[in-house]
Amino acid sequence: MKLRVAVVYGGRSGEHEVSLRSAESIIAALDPARYEVQRFFIGKEGRWSPHPILPEPGANPGIDVVFPVLHGTFGEDGTMQGLFELAGLPYVGSGVLGSSAAMDKEVTKRLCHERGLPVVEYLVQWRGALDADEVERNFQYPVFVKPANLGSSVGISKAHSREELESALEVAAAYDRKVIIERAILGKELECAVLGNEKPRASMPCEILPSREFYDYDDKYLLGASRYQLPAALTPETTAEVRRLAVECMLAVECAGMARVDFLLEESSGRVYINEINTIPGFTSISMYPKMWEHSGISYSGLVDELIRLALERHAACQTTRYSKD
Ligand SMILES: Nc1ncnc2c1ncn2[C@@H]1O[C@H](COP(=O)(O)OP(=O)(O)O)[C@@H](O)[C@H]1O
Ligand SMILES: [Mg+2]
Repeated sequence: MKLRVAVVYGGRSGEHEVSLRSAESIIAALDPARYEVQRFFIGKEGRWSPHPILPEPGANPGIDVVFPVLHGTFGEDGTMQGLFELAGLPYVGSGVLGSSAAMDKEVTKRLCHERGLPVVEYLVQWRGALDADEVERNFQYPVFVKPANLGSSVGISKAHSREELESALEVAAAYDRKVIIERAILGKELECAVLGNEKPRASMPCEILPSREFYDYDDKYLLGASRYQLPAALTPETTAEVRRLAVECMLAVECAGMARVDFLLEESSGRVYINEINTIPGFTSISMYPKMWEHSGISYSGLVDELIRLALERHAACQTTRYSKD
């Protein structure tokens, strides 16, 4: 019998279009001899077609496993994962807690810091209580200002002056009630792919070479001008450190299945900082997550197979959990 895979894609986030491309690549890689694909498309307004996955256990008899290919809000942030939990369906990637913790850049930093992992110094401010003076007391310019939840560099600014800081705070606060302000790191941007459940492994890291002052939305999706180097040209020690930290970050944030951990390598100190963790990284045929695995010996279709296997393995392990006394 073929395994019936529900690919859920599109979605309400700003990364709707990227999701469409990721989903087509994944569907093309699913071996038709082994899998039967069912498409669940979610429009930008949140409507499912042809019909939604239902939240009741047993209410989706045609689905063996779900492959969510949704980036960002309402897909990568634990909300969708909550639906699959209610429905009792196995699904690829992180659970509710790992997804929502990873989506929040500040919670990610706290969890990493608590485990002794290096993160860039930062401040938190809330919409309605933005305070440029506090930022200036703590940091020198430039600083990065970000909405705590979101992706694709939306709402993120690099502020070089008081004037830029004030508008950057307003912009970030328009996208999230919680805003984080960070010291700017001058150096390299690195990414590392992680795969697995309890004992995840890390790929060889790559370096992103943005074409602009930082890796912003246009650079990621519109310009196509940023380049990458795979594997990143690092000392063996730094490579090993990045791979170790990637696995540690995945465990600290309690992610599962897959994650792409992004780093900043400070040129002056040689220090590596964890920047963020993405639980449903870009998955097009030219995306970094599958490319890093390809370089580390796992083909795109082999990667998709492994993610489905990990989803079933995790679901089976969860099945043994008791929810009440009898
Ligand atoms: N503290 C920092 N120092 C230097 N560059 C940063 C810093 N934070 C973010 N950036 C730049 O901004 C980009 C987007 O920030 P990031 O935190 O990765 O958010 P997103 O979730 O939108 O990808 C990064 O890829 C990097 O180029
Ligand atoms: Mg990023």
